[in-house]
Parts: sequence; structure tokens; C-alpha cells
Amino acid sequence: MPRISLPKLTHELLSAYLRKGDIAIDATVGNGHDTAFLLAKVGKKGHVYGFDIQATAIEATRQLTNNPDNLTLITDSHAKLADYIPLGHVGKIKACLFNLGYLPGGDKRIITQTQSTLPALNAASEVLAVGGILTVLAYPGHPDGDQETAQVAEWCAKLSSEQFDCRVFDSDVENPAAPRLWLIDKICAYP
Ligand SMILES: C[S@@+](CC[C@H](N)C(=O)[O-])C[C@H]1O[C@@H](n2cnc3c(N)ncnc32)[C@H](O)[C@@H]1O
Repeated sequence: MPRISLPKLTHELLSAYLRKGDIAIDATVGNGHDTAFLLAKVGKKGHVYGFDIQATAIEATRQLTNNPDNLTLITDSHAKLADYIPLGHVGKIKACLFNLGYLPGGDKRIITQTQSTLPALNAASEVLAVGGILTVLAYPGHPDGDQETAQVAEWCAKLSSEQFDCRVFDSDVENPAAPRLWLIDKICAYP
């Protein structure tokens, strides 16, 4: 059975949610490909916030996107997401992407960590609009990624089903180490 490309699937599915003028978050900008995708979708009247703990990732994203006025890049942990999203945008975020793991082509020892990923997911779920979507792409096949993937699964399982609708895609159902994608729709403001 052919393996599905989950980064590609993420973009395809998000295309159905994002409109010109929307506000979106890339919680892990890395080399900037997801940020560039979000910018193209929300257009010049929209806004994108991008987080990464590595200055090299922020710089790569700045260069890839030509640093437009409607992009706010933040060199800090996504765990502090709530500190950076202005009150006027809270509850109006249409999409928030988490592409976990390490910076492709970078230092593989610097990876997302469960202790910051889970608070970041909590913060993202708070700032999300009703009708918005949170996507989490996790990689159980790299060191610590298995534990982080299991914790993300547990976090999703604990979400109120009245407030969130969770779907999960496996890139290869026969391989437990294959990447996994969660799509979390916010369907209601309060549980
Ligand atoms: C798989 S890469 C992201 C790929 C990226 N979205 C792209 O399109 O190229 C994961 C990124 O998460 C970043 N990261 C790790 N811990 C983080 C944290 N606590 N907050 C924000 N970014 C983090 C890493 O520095 C790395 O650049």
C-alpha cells in the first residue's frame, strides 16, 4: 500500500478551512514551508504568527517568505503562545499547525518536547476560533518522538467531545513508527 505524505495531506485538508483574511499560526516554522503555505492561503489581508525556538529556523522562514508585513515571527517556545497572540485575535485563529520533531537539515538533537508541546496544544486550543482547526503531525519513529506521539494521543483523547472533534490519519497503518496526523476541529466555544 503506498504511504501517504502527511505534510501534503495537511495542506490539502487545511485548504478547505482557510480563506483570504484569516488568521493562522505555525507553531513550529522550521524551514518555513508550512508558513509560506499559510501566507498564500490567508492572503495579504490575513495574518500568520510563526514560532520556533531556533533563530536559524526563524531566519530560514524569513528568507523563504520574503518577510511580509502580515507575518509575525517569534523566536520563542510555542508553550508561550498565549503571551504573543493579541487579545483581539484570541478566539479568531482559523488554523494552528504543529509539525513536531526536528528541523530538517538542522541539529537533530533539538526536537519538540512533550513538556512544552502539551501546554502549547492547550494554548492553541484556547485561541482557536469555533470552526477553526488544529493540526498536529507527530513522528513516533525518532528518539523521544514515540513518547511525544503517545502523549499527544492521550491529550486528544481527553478533549471534550462537545467542544472538539478529533480525527487521526496514519501514513502507514502497518508501521507503528510511521508519522501520524491529528486534525482537531473546534466545534463549540465551551465544553
Ligand atoms: C519538523 S520541524 C517543522 C517543519 C516546518 N513546519 C517546515 O515547514 O519546514 C520542527 C521545528 O520545531 C521547532 N521546535 C522545537 N521545539 C519547539 C518549541 N518548544 N517551540 C517552537 N518550536 C519548536 C524546531 O526547532 C524545528 O524547527
